[in-house]
Amino acid sequence: MKWYHLPGLTLTGEPTIQKVKAGGKNICIIEYDNKLYALGASCPHAGAELSGGWCKDGKIICPFHRYSYDLETGKGSPGQNDYVDAYPIEIRKDGIYIGIESFWDRIGL
Ligand code: FES
Repeated sequence: MKWYHLPGLTLTGEPTIQKVKAGGKNICIIEYDNKLYALGASCPHAGAELSGGWCKDGKIICPFHRYSYDLETGKGSPGQNDYVDAYPIEIRKDGIYIGIESFWDRIGL
């Protein structure tokens, strides 16, 4: 897994969704209930931008058809049978980092 620094990203103390690009992927950085989460930015249902959505009850809600995804796991709500990628995120002394596995990491090479 490779860790990417997210320069310019700051914690606001408020519920926010910020879209960033790291490791060639578009990612939503979500601040919710004093925790940070990182999920893929594209809704798997029909491709809407999840960064235009909002959070409720530990889930991000898509602005198009209101599908919802768990902030921790990216798993879709019951009945959806889908998910968004969830990424580990760390706050370090010099900033916020996101961990992204490459295809080669996943197949163990
Ligand atoms: S595009 Fe997200 S719920 Fe349909």
